[in-house]
Amino acid sequence: MNVLLIGGGGREHALAWKLKQSPLLGTLYCAPGNAGIAAVATCVPLDPADHGAVARFCKEHDIGLAVVGPEAPLVAGLTDDLETQGILVFGPSKEAAQLEGSKGFTKDLCTEYGIPTAAYGRFADAEAAKAHVSTQPLPVVIKADGLAAGKGVTIATSHFEAYTAIDACFGGAFGAAGAEVVVEEHLAGEEVSFLALVDGATALPLATAQDHKRAYDGDMGPNTGGMGAYSPAPIMTDALSRQVMDEIVVPTVRAMRDRGTKFKGVLYAGLMIQEGAPKLIEYNVRFGDPEAQVLMMRLKSDLLPALVATAEGRLAGASLDWYDEAALCVVMAAKGYPGSYKKGTEIKGLEEAGADPKVEIFHAGTKRDRDRILADGGRVLGVTARGHNIAEAQALAYRAVDKIDWPQGFCRRDIGWRAAARKGGAG
Ligand code: AMP
Ligand code: GLY
Repeated sequence: MNVLLIGGGGREHALAWKLKQSPLLGTLYCAPGNAGIAAVATCVPLDPADHGAVARFCKEHDIGLAVVGPEAPLVAGLTDDLETQGILVFGPSKEAAQLEGSKGFTKDLCTEYGIPTAAYGRFADAEAAKAHVSTQPLPVVIKADGLAAGKGVTIATSHFEAYTAIDACFGGAFGAAGAEVVVEEHLAGEEVSFLALVDGATALPLATAQDHKRAYDGDMGPNTGGMGAYSPAPIMTDALSRQVMDEIVVPTVRAMRDRGTKFKGVLYAGLMIQEGAPKLIEYNVRFGDPEAQVLMMRLKSDLLPALVATAEGRLAGASLDWYDEAALCVVMAAKGYPGSYKKGTEIKGLEEAGADPKVEIFHAGTKRDRDRILADGGRVLGVTARGHNIAEAQALAYRAVDKIDWPQGFCRRDIGWRAAARKGGAG
């Protein structure tokens, strides 16, 4: 089966790397891909926003499955436009992608179906939002309703900071995404990522994972797309996973089906675990980045039939096998990220760093210039390793990081600290 993968980040490199191992795969295409993906797929300069062009490509190249990596094309309705043309797609419809595309939509769904989440209010104008905030305890969380590339959330520790965030949203800082604002109760606790394949009716949980959202060591600094991840997440016991399925994921899948907007694809619940109880922070409607990197390293089963079964609504009775080993990914970013950073700096030493069979270096923002690899984005590499436990995976990943010669890059040195601190690092 020929597959078209949409996207060009570290998540897509991990998916492409895993898909490439499938005996069922014919040709793997990736649009637009990156320098790392080019080693396992044929990269094509298709614009995912041009749905007609993507559909034509699928027809011309006999694509049996289109896999949509990032959220923006899903929220823009790429799945709907390909399915209309008879193309099988892994990824939710535009309506179902509202679970990520509108925070207000998701909060209302949680209220209606009794799904545990932070208390909230939705506001269409600044004055009403500020009046509400003035009555709320601190910190208080201000969110742009729509997609804001991870930048639309402010955890305000003063009312003044909250008012400033509200003004920024309505002032157009996030474009149309800020036309509505959600004000939320702040949840304290430990954050965890919980992902499940969903075929419209059945949800099949993936292995557990945890991400590091802040830019600097000690979970300090600005929020980012994710600076590192590991799997499994020691906090997610089997009992807690079952509770998340029963109280959050399954009711959501049922709610979406009841509304006539069946969810198909991967549902990623960002959770806060507060005194042992899970609450939903947000949904994403695609694989996490860098969660996908560690999950793909641990997935033993063939990914391709699992994605096809999800897209075809045949997940009932399906299961996935995972390696018992832990995996850990350290993101290397361009200095300055998540603020402004330089592109085009050269990265050396990748071959030697990736020589260990337990290490994979997933490319995020890279491009090739003849025989040189250049940085071409904020998050640039995901150095990922597998080990008997998280401490071992961490040591292997950092050993590889230290072989990479890229003075204009940086990474956190403490990825996995929570897990390593727990139980002496046992995965
Ligand atoms: P979101 O884009 O909704 O995932 O928010 C980005 C990050 O902000 C989350 O990963 C959390 O770390 C943090 N966050 C969002 N909402 C809350 C909340 N209600 N309480 C505490 N932290 C939050
Ligand atoms: N790692 C967080 C995300 O993919 O949104």
